[in-house]
Amino acid sequence: MLSTIAKRQFSSSASTAYKVAVLGAAGGIGQPLSLLMKLNHKVTDLALYDIRLAPGVAADVSHIPTNSTVTGYTPEDNGLEKTLTGADLVIIPAGVPRKPGMTRDDLFNTNASIVRDLAKAVGDYSPSAAVAIISNPVNSTVPIVAEVLKSKGVYNPKKLFGVTTLDVLRASRFLSQVQGTNPASEPVTVVGGHSGVTIVPLLSQSKHKDLPKDTYDALVHRIQFGGDEVVKAKDGAGSATLSMAQAGARFASSVLNGLAGENDVVEPSFVDSPLFKDEGIEFFSSKVTLGPEGVKTIHGLGELSAAEEEMITTAKETLAKNIAKGQEFVKQNP
Ligand code: NAI
Repeated sequence: MLSTIAKRQFSSSASTAYKVAVLGAAGGIGQPLSLLMKLNHKVTDLALYDIRLAPGVAADVSHIPTNSTVTGYTPEDNGLEKTLTGADLVIIPAGVPRKPGMTRDDLFNTNASIVRDLAKAVGDYSPSAAVAIISNPVNSTVPIVAEVLKSKGVYNPKKLFGVTTLDVLRASRFLSQVQGTNPASEPVTVVGGHSGVTIVPLLSQSKHKDLPKDTYDALVHRIQFGGDEVVKAKDGAGSATLSMAQAGARFASSVLNGLAGENDVVEPSFVDSPLFKDEGIEFFSSKVTLGPEGVKTIHGLGELSAAEEEMITTAKETLAKNIAKGQEFVKQNP
């Protein structure tokens, strides 16, 4: 009898005990994201990596009394290998952020090689982990990771995610501000990609289908370019970090809930998607049901308004270029 109880306890904790690795953990996003992951009770092993300061961040968050060990590594002493080995989920916010006047695409030259090199390490040390990419430009960095993992023969399209959750949070928040409502009860589906015109909020599927045209146009623009508000206000010191950490933690929590076999875990994410593959667009963000193997179901876009159809057409043109740019980068710079 006792042994049955002991077994049950063991199996229930085993199914919700996960190692999470954060690469870029000492950055503006990495630090608060590491804090939030320390507060997640499914995380029993939190491994933080950065080219600088990660042991300090690890020592700091390790004092929070939740049931997980925290380790921090730099490149010395095989730090990346130690961080990644055994990881169930790898979250990557490593890279440079925008300054005023920059688009996310302007970050490509620096961040493409950072993400490529980290993806190589993921392929070597944690090839079966779920991988969540925050580093911009997400529309290109996700294809970069896919190409690297393909070249190592370990690509699993069900386990690679571009994190677009911040667009979803902003859409709820901004819509609720226009309507004077509680953002918690204003879900908005956002699809496409994660930059400017590729961010397509499906407001016709929200509770407010018939917004006046000028309100609608202003709201769509704010959702697409909301990141610029933060870049401008931070005045050269970076882009969204705290709201992004919250978005990243929410997405990571959903991935872990899916891995744990919980039902109806749905988050929009930029994934290897069948939706527009016949048009040559290999990655697209839409609602995804998450499960024990990662992606369980990729949802279609549902019914769209004429304005949304038009935005999707525009988004696809830019996405095709962004995706090809990432793929080409890995071909030219393997
Ligand atoms: P940050 O500059 O504050 O932090 C980046 C961290 O990455 C630094 O600590 C740096 O040392 C580290 N790093 C650089 N190269 C590395 C490497 N090879 N290995 C490990 N760590 C490395 O930047 P912040 O504000 O945290 O932004 C990070 C990225 O997230 C940027 O690319 C930014 O554009 C992106 N971002 C994405 C969003 C999204 O919605 N997906 C939203 C906001 C930002």
